[in-house]
Amino acid sequence: EKGGYEHFMLKEIHEQPKAVQDTIGAYLKGNQIDFSEIGLEDEELASIERFYIIGCGSAYHVAMAAKYVLEDMTQIPVEIDIASEFRYRNPILVKNSLVVIISQSGETADSLAALRLAKEKGAAVLGIVNVVGSSIARESDYTLYTYAGPEISVATTKAYSTQLVAMYLVAMRTAQIRGLLSDEDCEKMIAELQTLPKKIQKILDDKERIQWFASKYANAKDMFFLGRGLDYAISLEGSLKMKEISYIHSEAYAAGELKHGTISLIEDNTLVVGILTQSNLYEKTVSNMVEVKSRGAYLMGLTTYGNYSIEDNADFSVYVPKTDPHFATSLAIIPLQLLGYYVSVAKGLDVDKPRNLAKSVTVE
Ligand code: F6R
Repeated sequence: EKGGYEHFMLKEIHEQPKAVQDTIGAYLKGNQIDFSEIGLEDEELASIERFYIIGCGSAYHVAMAAKYVLEDMTQIPVEIDIASEFRYRNPILVKNSLVVIISQSGETADSLAALRLAKEKGAAVLGIVNVVGSSIARESDYTLYTYAGPEISVATTKAYSTQLVAMYLVAMRTAQIRGLLSDEDCEKMIAELQTLPKKIQKILDDKERIQWFASKYANAKDMFFLGRGLDYAISLEGSLKMKEISYIHSEAYAAGELKHGTISLIEDNTLVVGILTQSNLYEKTVSNMVEVKSRGAYLMGLTTYGNYSIEDNADFSVYVPKTDPHFATSLAIIPLQLLGYYVSVAKGLDVDKPRNLAKSVTVE
């Protein structure tokens, strides 16, 4: 049932190249992104004046990554919210809003309540859902299914990855329709998107290095994940993976925010993971890494091939293949999933069923 893997989580981590490929393939017609089968017509995308993207946990982390990508590509303002916050804050939905609800299970109580509230307020709802026929899938105006297949492990991996690519497709198509992305550039981006499965596989092929590092740091008490922009969104997800399955206290910080308080927690040998996939922010984040390093942190740097100067500061460096910077989250998250997984294994924990957690949170 686990296909020869020790845990569902490891199996699902390895299913990501296929899950990503299947999700991209489902919404391509020739070399065009096509949402007509889900009823989401170009006119609808052309008229959007604001996106609201809502989810819980990892789905919220996808929303954050999507905000950076969507705003940069479409120039449309994007608000993101944790579903349990959105539903109780009497949100203002401006006209021509598209509310995007992201959910693997399609049954998360707070996300479903957020969907119903958005509809009550007259907004159109796009559900990004993995489980076919689930409540969120049924109640959304448009349902964009992800093709991750069944996800058993409580900690999400492949569903998260498919949600990301679904959001890239929405951003690309919207930008194209609005004339912000030429047909030619869109085709180039699609071609790059289609290289992600291979690039993810390449990272997976190198997993022993992460395993070695994880066993070395399995007894850490605290961990910090730092990044800016999209790398901050990745930090949140990497940190959640670590907390939920390894029971290590971990925090994700926008790198520039660190010195406003949290840096006082850094002491000799505190493990800090710096994430630097965005070349325009590289030097900025490096300077934050220098700050934590000088306070004794043990530093893991996660960046793209070519940025070898990271080794001037990092004690351990992990490289992922280059891609369009908008897609970098899809690659950088893989080593962090593996890190959480292997720390949990090294500690002998119940990886697939961490304490106190349920796969689908159907009560608020
Ligand atoms: C973390 C995790 C959770 C879910 C969250 C939302 O690994 O799995 O944070 O992402 O409970 O669940 P769905 O996507 O089913 O709404």
